[in-house]
Amino acid sequence: MKNLTDLMNERFACKVFLDEGPINDADLKLILEASNLAPTAFGIDQCRVIVYRTKEGKDQFNPYLKMGNEIRVSTSSAFIIYVGQTKEALFANDEEVIKRNTPYFDFTTEKLKPFHDSLLASYAHPEGRAEFYDIIAVSNKSSYMTLKAKELGYDSVIMTGLDQVGMTEYLKSKNLLINGERVVLACAIGHADMKNYKNVRQSGTKNRVPYDVFATIID
Ligand SMILES: Cc1cc2nc3c(=O)[nH]c(=O)nc-3n(C[C@H](O)[C@H](O)[C@H](O)COP(=O)(O)O)c2cc1C
Repeated sequence: MKNLTDLMNERFACKVFLDEGPINDADLKLILEASNLAPTAFGIDQCRVIVYRTKEGKDQFNPYLKMGNEIRVSTSSAFIIYVGQTKEALFANDEEVIKRNTPYFDFTTEKLKPFHDSLLASYAHPEGRAEFYDIIAVSNKSSYMTLKAKELGYDSVIMTGLDQVGMTEYLKSKNLLINGERVVLACAIGHADMKNYKNVRQSGTKNRVPYDVFATIID
């Protein structure tokens, strides 16, 4: 089995997939379970995913895709929308929402409320960090996703070239998002079409600054 460093080196941003149809349930589950193991803040998930695999499912998002992402989504085997959960969504004063987001906290309802309130208070930080917790969570989770996909032999691409606001409104209109949830980024998974020169270029180049530019070791 490949080690993590090999997988990191081999992952590249796939620009066109082979259009093989939907990914199977078992592989999708492995990839999303790995994604869900990424670090969280407070042990509270600030991110969830909505996945489309069929042509019809993916096509409906065409109006919201930019920068050539249409072709990546249409040829992919899974289109994964990473939804960030802001303060409003996570701490909606709604027992069902609280329980959904903290299923592992075995609190009775009376005990849940103070916990909810103290978390909400910790979010009311003067630096406004609550505004970007969900974006960091999404970023972590999507990174794990790309590596697990690679381990299973899939290629992937992370996409911020989207009309996030439009997609958020659209998904809300379909009752798939609650207030305070927002589309942050999307990913496409599949097998790269290696006859396409863009994939050849992407997989052959890793533009990174040298280690000593990237890392400043002080001690
Ligand atoms: C935050 C972020 C957003 C990106 N958005 C897109 C995108 O919308 N469409 C796309 O094809 N690639 C997107 N990419 C992939 C970049 O094109 C890719 O990372 C770049 O070509 C460098 O390749 P590498 O990741 O293999 O180093 C994105 C990557 C990151 C990290």
